[in-house]
Amino acid sequence: MKFFIDTANLDQIAEAQDMGILDGVTTNPSLMAKEGITGQENIINHYKKICELVDGDVSAEVISTDFDGMVKEGEALAALNEQIVVKLPMIKDGVKACKYFTDKGIKTNVTLVFSPGQALLAAKAGATYVSPFIGRLDDISTDGLNLIAEIRMIYDNYGFETEILAASVRHTMHVIDCAKLGADVMTGPLSSIEGLLKHPLTDIGLAKFLADYKKGNS
Ligand code: E4P
Repeated sequence: MKFFIDTANLDQIAEAQDMGILDGVTTNPSLMAKEGITGQENIINHYKKICELVDGDVSAEVISTDFDGMVKEGEALAALNEQIVVKLPMIKDGVKACKYFTDKGIKTNVTLVFSPGQALLAAKAGATYVSPFIGRLDDISTDGLNLIAEIRMIYDNYGFETEILAASVRHTMHVIDCAKLGADVMTGPLSSIEGLLKHPLTDIGLAKFLADYKKGNS
């Protein structure tokens, strides 16, 4: 399972990269705005900085909602660095743009996916990644994890190569449940990754090992 971090915060990206387990980064316009990154030039520079920090794929989202606009923006983003994955919304023109980029060998991430049918369309268009938003489904009392299971079944039925990128991951149990269900990738906040480290018996055991060492070596 690949681990992506879902942020535009350079410190958090660097921290996750430093652990040695980071496979990529996802961003979206809200995450960029949260870091105060505004204006096309600043946004472009920020993507370049993110690419310098990590070894893996970096999803950069288009703002246009029409095919021509998405193609223009996506081509400019893809030209920044070969790590860039063009992130496209799950709308009709987004699907069309996804097919366009697939045919050109440019990686894509189809975002804002909330149903198995949308995921099927993304795979048909050859998306590199499909992003089902599990946390936002949970927010409206709908089982987000069930969507991951349904997409896994559909993709396995037909051997689609599109990777299931579980998005809108909010906490550590989401990460573990997505791994059980066979999601190829998860993207979440640093806290959802760091939560995997935690077990009280690890802390108790380490404290005992160190105390015993100290007794024998003082
Ligand atoms: C996915 O790529 C999105 O950036 C993200 O996971 C959305 O998460 P949220 O629902 O917590 O905003």
